[in-house]
Amino acid sequence: MRRKIIAGNWKMNLTVAEGTALVTALRDRCAKVSNMDIVVAPTATAIYPIAQVLAGSMIAVAGQNCHWADKGAYTGEFSPVQLKDAGCKYVIIGHSERRQYFAETNEGVAKKARALFDHQLTPILCVGETLEERESNKTFDVIAEQVKVGLSALSADEVAAIVLAYEPVWAIGTGRTATPEQAEEVHAAIRKQVAEIYGQATADKVRIQYGGSVKASNAAQLLGQPDIDGALVGGASLTADAFMGIILYEESKK
Ligand code: 13P
Repeated sequence: MRRKIIAGNWKMNLTVAEGTALVTALRDRCAKVSNMDIVVAPTATAIYPIAQVLAGSMIAVAGQNCHWADKGAYTGEFSPVQLKDAGCKYVIIGHSERRQYFAETNEGVAKKARALFDHQLTPILCVGETLEERESNKTFDVIAEQVKVGLSALSADEVAAIVLAYEPVWAIGTGRTATPEQAEEVHAAIRKQVAEIYGQATADKVRIQYGGSVKASNAAQLLGQPDIDGALVGGASLTADAFMGIILYEESKK
């Protein structure tokens, strides 16, 4: 059984005060949650204070992006070393917004994944097709390439420990969710590909989250699919009630 992982990606939202209030509520309301991993990914400026609030709790902190170098002349960037120092355990890489607006490539994602494991941080590596790619039947080719190259610098043990996130670009922030069948079809294909490259034991362990307009009302169906091991939540992670709605569905299955 793979342990579910529910992560909230705040993107470029919430001030330090707003984020601190949110995680204080989440920390208290999640105190008895034990059957899943919960992660929040604040904007970089809020990581350190949020990690202070969550120290000793069951909620972990993630970065939303990183550079692959440890340090250097890269104005505006931050390194895995710095993210770890600020309190992160996970770092999201390859998010479609980074790929779309900041020219992040599969090769860059592979370097980031390597650097994160070198610093004992767990990547949450995002893949997903655009609407145009889906409509021209390129979904599986695009994702296979993102998975193959993105994981290419890792060992089988590292792939077993990574978190993958399937986020169809057309479902992000649109209110338009992939059906559970559409999502499961891609998740199963990703797991099959991992099995082909890294072996079945690795594929059985790797966790694959779904992301794209996940909310309390659709979480049950999505998270009930055999190859969906959690959710990467955007909009619905910005309030305690909305995020807890997703978490409590999972917790109620204990
Ligand atoms: P939404 O849940 O707002 O669609 O965002 C999904 C996402 O991009 C999470 O990384």
